[in-house]
Amino acid sequence: MIIVIDGPAGSGKSSTAKKIAELLDIQYLDSGALYRALTYLWLMNDKPDLPEFFKILPGVKLDAEYRNQTFIINVNGEDITKDIRTQQVANHVSEMAAQPEARKFVNQYMRKLVMSDAYIADGRDLGTAVFPDADLKFYMIASLEERAKRRYRELISDDPSISFEEVKDNLKNRDHQDSSRAADPLKKDENAILIDTTGKTFEEQIDEMVGIIRDKIKLKQ
Ligand code: CDP
Ligand code: CDP
Repeated sequence: MIIVIDGPAGSGKSSTAKKIAELLDIQYLDSGALYRALTYLWLMNDKPDLPEFFKILPGVKLDAEYRNQTFIINVNGEDITKDIRTQQVANHVSEMAAQPEARKFVNQYMRKLVMSDAYIADGRDLGTAVFPDADLKFYMIASLEERAKRRYRELISDDPSISFEEVKDNLKNRDHQDSSRAADPLKKDENAILIDTTGKTFEEQIDEMVGIIRDKIKLKQ
């Protein structure tokens, strides 16, 4: 079984998917973390031209696993779980994610992973391109102002120098780049259920989505 959640940055996809994974006792896959991992690796290698960077991809060993409420990422044996969440990575990730070579690498990894177990996964193109036959598709949205407030609250404890405007601009720019790129852009799949979380509490959105999932699973049995 595969349930997917797509939507713009900070709309609540990953926190919601993690909670649902716990409630339904299934696995969680954070596809954005995989693009962030490639971006981190690129920046660590002094940001070579992308065609140069892609030459090293076949030798990159990626391991991702959801454990202890954290989506843990290892690259070539190094735990980079925290490193991929910096604003520097956020500022470059959409450039990396626009590259078909990067998308091919991430998609191959994900499709293999979900064969092993039941999963809920979040991203931008999971319903439209990666898992078009998913059992259930959601598309989450919230106003830019509210998404920026949520993300700012998360980032300020680790980096007190960060500004609200910087966070908001990053979300806006990424949404623009992610939805206007040629390769599998951010887009609502026609069969995805729209969940607008503006003005909703986290608990309300979980209850709504778990209700939909339970109904759907009952219908299939
Ligand atoms: O959590 P946040 O909304 O900040 O972003 P993320 O899910 O960590 O994704 C980071 C970036 O990866 C996005 O802005 C997209 O550029 C890219 N991405 C993508 O292109 N396709 C996906 N399925 C997931 C993420
Ligand atoms: O994965 P995505 O970038 O879409 O969002 P996220 O990383 O889950 O971040 C959303 C943040 O907003 C989390 O800190 C949530 O706890 C919080 N939040 C929410 O998702 N939904 C609400 N109704 C209220 C807050």
